[in-house]
Amino acid sequence: MELIHLRGRSSDVVVDLSHGAPVIVYWGAPLVADADPAVFVVATERPLLNGSPDVVAPIAVVPEHGSGFPGRPGLLGHRRRGTAWAPRFGSAEHEQQDNRLIVTARDPVAELQLVVSFELDEALVVQAELTNTSPTERYLLDGLSMTLPIPQHAAELGTFSGRWTREFHPVRIPWTHGAITYENRRGRTSHEHPPLLFAGTPSFGEWQGSVWGAHLAWSGNHSGLAERLPDGRRYLQLGELLHPGELSLEPGQTYRTPEVIAVHSEVGLTAATQQFHRHLRARPSHPTSPRPVLVNTWEAVYFDHDLDRLRRLADRAALVGIERFVLDDGWFGSRRDDTSGLGDWWVSPDAHPDGLGPLIEHVTRLGMQFGIWVEPEMVNPDSDLYRAHPEWALTTNGYEPVLARHQLVLDLAQPAAYQHILGQLDTLLRDHDISFIKWDLNRDHIGGSGHDGAAGTHAHTIAAYRLLDELHARHPGVEIESCASGGARIDHEILRRTARVWTSDCNDALERQTIQRGTSMLIPPELMGAHIGPEHSHTTGRRHDLAFRAATALFGHLGVEWNLLSLSDAELDALTDVVALHRRFRPLLHGGDAVRFDTDEASIAHGVYATDRSEALVSFALISTSAGLTPPPLHLPGLRHDGRYRVEQVSLPGQHLGPNRSQLAWLSGGTTMTGAQLETLGLQLPALHPESAILLHCRAV
Ligand code: GLA
Repeated sequence: MELIHLRGRSSDVVVDLSHGAPVIVYWGAPLVADADPAVFVVATERPLLNGSPDVVAPIAVVPEHGSGFPGRPGLLGHRRRGTAWAPRFGSAEHEQQDNRLIVTARDPVAELQLVVSFELDEALVVQAELTNTSPTERYLLDGLSMTLPIPQHAAELGTFSGRWTREFHPVRIPWTHGAITYENRRGRTSHEHPPLLFAGTPSFGEWQGSVWGAHLAWSGNHSGLAERLPDGRRYLQLGELLHPGELSLEPGQTYRTPEVIAVHSEVGLTAATQQFHRHLRARPSHPTSPRPVLVNTWEAVYFDHDLDRLRRLADRAALVGIERFVLDDGWFGSRRDDTSGLGDWWVSPDAHPDGLGPLIEHVTRLGMQFGIWVEPEMVNPDSDLYRAHPEWALTTNGYEPVLARHQLVLDLAQPAAYQHILGQLDTLLRDHDISFIKWDLNRDHIGGSGHDGAAGTHAHTIAAYRLLDELHARHPGVEIESCASGGARIDHEILRRTARVWTSDCNDALERQTIQRGTSMLIPPELMGAHIGPEHSHTTGRRHDLAFRAATALFGHLGVEWNLLSLSDAELDALTDVVALHRRFRPLLHGGDAVRFDTDEASIAHGVYATDRSEALVSFALISTSAGLTPPPLHLPGLRHDGRYRVEQVSLPGQHLGPNRSQLAWLSGGTTMTGAQLETLGLQLPALHPESAILLHCRAV
């Protein structure tokens, strides 16, 4: 038995190398210093079962059908005549350096080599590479997924449902027997299936229960599986989903999987998801400057670009304290509506007769950064680009392509198409003082083939990453936002090259409460674009006052997506106060630990704690009428138990609390409580109107 013990910041992992393909035999709370990991292996050894093979095949990181594993194999593929379909890896070698482990296993019969790497720090990162070692024969790869064993008492799953304008809705499913699976074939991370699964002890909450979570850092097709085997064992499996024939390995070629990033906590979901946040914050590209409050022109002017109007919008933005002005769709090519122009990334003389210069100068003179919208991976058939190069679109010869929003995906895997787009974007950035790009992706990949006639999503995804990397290298100061019809491309791999995500096209504060809660299970607040929209939401038709919209948007990377020219002086003053409030709390909001609280279904409570627990900003929102006339006391676990905190309400402009305000003495002047009291007694909140929120500030005294 050869066991490797990795120690992370909040959990330990033990890997058994004696089977060839590595097996995680322990993934959980840190083990005591002198723990002998062999004890686990012996204590958890499984008996042989009647009616089953004479071996108990382990749940390896890449489990093997050929070794007797009864679930879904980690590696799917074969050679031309159907051989090498059930490989068995043996003879593992390994290299270990502190908390990193690389295991190499070979199958001389199938002529394949598997390299699995582990890194355990804030989170556990697992990745594999498969090499075709045959000197002569191609290997047809159908899938290589990473598999993580989950303890048997984790009998509940946390997944997500979603769609356009309703992303990241958390869903709980009892995990009793059999398999639960999702498959994403939309060619982008998707609104529907964020590549993220949690498993935990029944009813695991934000602050209680054991939780294991896994995210596939990938922006293309993917699948996720949670299976409970008939013998009771459980596992999660995540990997890239490959279309038939999409990938084959020529002799000597290697396929590398996306990373699986995994987290674990013995004290609930909030602590587990903070590991995702810390993992992202530790990357070298993580933004360190204060996140500029931005104004986005989309819901203010849509395609109606008029220099004078845009300048006046910029004036008002500067007046309320906004720091970045983002010109959305409509500035280029023939793009006067969404039917044409994608692919022609030159400034439209119709929309901007004197170019973008006058607007950019105006914006930068006002002290704001200038940002611009692009959608470089797409092309409209009605564009100069498509007329010149129809062969650059991901279509399939002989079939009429399926359009979506009148557009097709550009096959960036074709070097000429790639170079053309790179050249256009490079020129745009070289010729203009642009600090920020909103990089959009507004359609699914459907049935699109590359130039060789095979499915093109994998190659396109890699090429899109390369394009972003190349632009970063050439223009290191330019920040990029990942948008895909709102939140259809939110994952850790796109976030290696982007400084924030556009969380959702829905700016309705009520919807955003849930969307942002779900999204916060994967990314920290400073990466989550959150805008104050108009009173009347464009996507739902609901109306909300500024206080609720502000309380909701404050907890992300704040923006304003509202026609500021339509605001009264009083509204402008109120918005100025909101922007100032965000800027006051920004270091806490964007540097602290995001926390969520368990509440009844009528409310959503969350906040941010300073990492040293000296301060906290907490939001409690009533999202529908509740059974009780007042909310139950709000408990705030996780502050310093023996610390004393001054708790005060943060008043929001125009905020109107419900009828019981006068009954709560503490609300008018604040109160002082210990962290222990805040956790165990909680704080009585006033009766609130549905679709409103109250903010509390706790400061150690
Ligand atoms: C997508 C984005 C929006 C906006 C439009 C522009 O839908 O998600 O925010 O940029 O495209 O066409």
